[in-house]
Amino acid sequence: MRVLSVVGARPQFVKLAPISSAMAGRVDHVVVHTGQHYDELMSDVFFRDLGIPAPDVNLAVGSGKHGAQTGAMLAGLEPVFEEYRPDWVLVYGDTNSTIAAALAAVKLHLPLAHLESGLRSFNRRMPEEHNRVLTDHAADLLLAPTEVAMKHLADEGLADRSVLVGDVMTDVLFRVRDSALAENPAAPHGLTAGEYYVATIHRPDNTDDAPRLERIVAGLAALDRPVLLLAHPRLVAAAANAGVSLDRGSIVLTSPLAYPDLVRAVSGSRGVVTDSGGLQKEAFLLRVPCTTVRPETEWVETVELGWNVLVGADVDRLAEAVERARPLDTDAAPYGDGSAAERVVDVLIERAIGS
Ligand code: UD1
Repeated sequence: MRVLSVVGARPQFVKLAPISSAMAGRVDHVVVHTGQHYDELMSDVFFRDLGIPAPDVNLAVGSGKHGAQTGAMLAGLEPVFEEYRPDWVLVYGDTNSTIAAALAAVKLHLPLAHLESGLRSFNRRMPEEHNRVLTDHAADLLLAPTEVAMKHLADEGLADRSVLVGDVMTDVLFRVRDSALAENPAAPHGLTAGEYYVATIHRPDNTDDAPRLERIVAGLAALDRPVLLLAHPRLVAAAANAGVSLDRGSIVLTSPLAYPDLVRAVSGSRGVVTDSGGLQKEAFLLRVPCTTVRPETEWVETVELGWNVLVGADVDRLAEAVERARPLDTDAAPYGDGSAAERVVDVLIERAIGS
């Protein structure tokens, strides 16, 4: 059986890592990189550090407005799908690479499976919300990470195509945590373990609204301990355009980190401030309190269990939320046991059309 995975953006490389290991020796796995992310630190380091074989095809589409970027991927993917004719096209998460591959697959009548299916923010301003809803409704097989995701799919009439497999980011996080901490447990940038925060901000709703960006950065700069700000290229560009200085107060400005370094930095931190989806969950899994700079989250379990506080419109409350976070210990495991990728491959094999 042949499975063709399409990835393009940073969080998708992380999800691809455990899937790629679980596929090895069981199915013929073809990996197509759209080229949505292309900088060394946004792409290549993930393949290298996570032991993922180099992509079979790289479309090198690069950055662009939504229509141009998604359209270029769609046009580039079609001949690749025709050449490989996979038994499954497997798409990941909610980026423009996801929706482009979903559209290209269904138009060619290729069976489509969506990994990390059923997540919803119910925020229609987010491009990702449209990407994931449309992909779920196009797909033949919906691989859901959580019970909550299964419920969303059932509510939309998609229960008969849905399977609960668990969260593949949990698989990779647990694997990397153990080796990264054993290798080098030191806190980054000469910081003291437990005495710094880690922050990332990259969502357009936060970066592209200059007054809001200023309030967020001012909040980070005023925190009571150093803040390691891992600056995504979108943040750096938006801050420069808006005349917002990132390098001030408590902020220690640095480039995005490779995945093992990120896991190490978060594990040693006192708290995380982010608008990333994945990082909220990674903080929870590492039992580090998180403050999410968004009005809502797809990973509601982190909030319900007390490990994540949402700061949306009231962004001036950032310092209060971050500095006072004292979640209660929990052994809840809403994201599975770290073996989701094996289940994904089992389900793909069981449900392959014609098997
Ligand atoms: C994308 C995803 C988002 C995901 C994020 C992870 C969509 C709609 N959004 O957002 O869901 O959370 O990836 O990081 O697909 N750039 C570089 N180098 C790169 C890549 C991007 O400099 O390697 C810059 C370019 O200026 C580009 C901007 O970052 O225009 C945004 O990149 P893009 O892929 O459009 O969206 P992200 O914000 O990264």
